[in-house]
Amino acid sequence: MKLWLAPLEGVSDCAFRTLCYQYGADLTFTEMIRVDSLVKGNKSSLSLLDLKNNTPTGIQLLAVKPKIVEEFVKKFASYSIDPVCFNLNLGCPSPDVIVQGGGAALVKRTARVQELVKILQKLGYPVSVKIRLGLNEFEKEKRVYLSLLKEVDADAFIIHARHARQKSSEKADWSVFEACLDTGKHIIPNGDINTQEDLAFFKSLGVKEVMIGRAAIRNPSVFQFLKGGKLENIAQVQKKYLALAEKYPSRALYQENVLSFLGKEAHSKKWMM
Ligand SMILES: Cc1cc2nc3c(=O)[nH]c(=O)nc-3n(C[C@H](O)[C@H](O)[C@H](O)COP(=O)(O)O)c2cc1C
Repeated sequence: MKLWLAPLEGVSDCAFRTLCYQYGADLTFTEMIRVDSLVKGNKSSLSLLDLKNNTPTGIQLLAVKPKIVEEFVKKFASYSIDPVCFNLNLGCPSPDVIVQGGGAALVKRTARVQELVKILQKLGYPVSVKIRLGLNEFEKEKRVYLSLLKEVDADAFIIHARHARQKSSEKADWSVFEACLDTGKHIIPNGDINTQEDLAFFKSLGVKEVMIGRAAIRNPSVFQFLKGGKLENIAQVQKKYLALAEKYPSRALYQENVLSFLGKEAHSKKWMM
């Protein structure tokens, strides 16, 4: 089973992604980066394109308007980076993103998502989408996510098995995956995947990759553990992380977050509610 590190705002910078890769993550992702800020040349957004070594990294983008994604495609060569793939965020639960029709509000906007995917695919990299099950319980019940899977030609669909109104303390609903897999699309489950038993469950469904978020924030050596190795003690993990953070520096906030989360449950108002 291949293990992917989830996009994690304020956490998954180059140092953290590299640490996870060294512990066995097969693919990692940048945090969500706003395409409109990138094309405007916003320095702090540009600094998130921090692909500084050979850690396999996908770039997660927050996009709503096709025109702006076209502009990004035109500018992409000037960023001089070579990601493994792109990912479109269809899961952000933040009200300021939703009100603009982005993040989890895009799950039901299948025609728009198809348009965005097609534009990004012009760059020649695989393009996946990372979705929630809809904006709310109503959309989940209507199974808007299945319509999206059927109508959008993305290269892969990462499915965080909660709708956007759910708290992370509510269990992810893995019962949705069977119908998702029945569409024949390339599905990567996400949400509450922590143990080898969890991996065995997904393997039994025929899944080949899963995405891990908070378990990696608690202890990035979870990748090694899930591949049959040991969970490293936090002091050792911290030492390795600090060495990487020195080699691949980013804003102080990242180090503060990672160090405060190690060994504990991550808390982010925006992403956990
Ligand atoms: C601190 C934090 C930051 C996150 N940032 C992002 C992000 O930038 N983009 C995204 O798609 N999801 C983001 N998420 C959601 C995770 O990628 C993941 O979907 C979620 O935590 C469920 O997976 P898990 O149960 O393995 O943690 C974030 C979650 C946390 C806890």
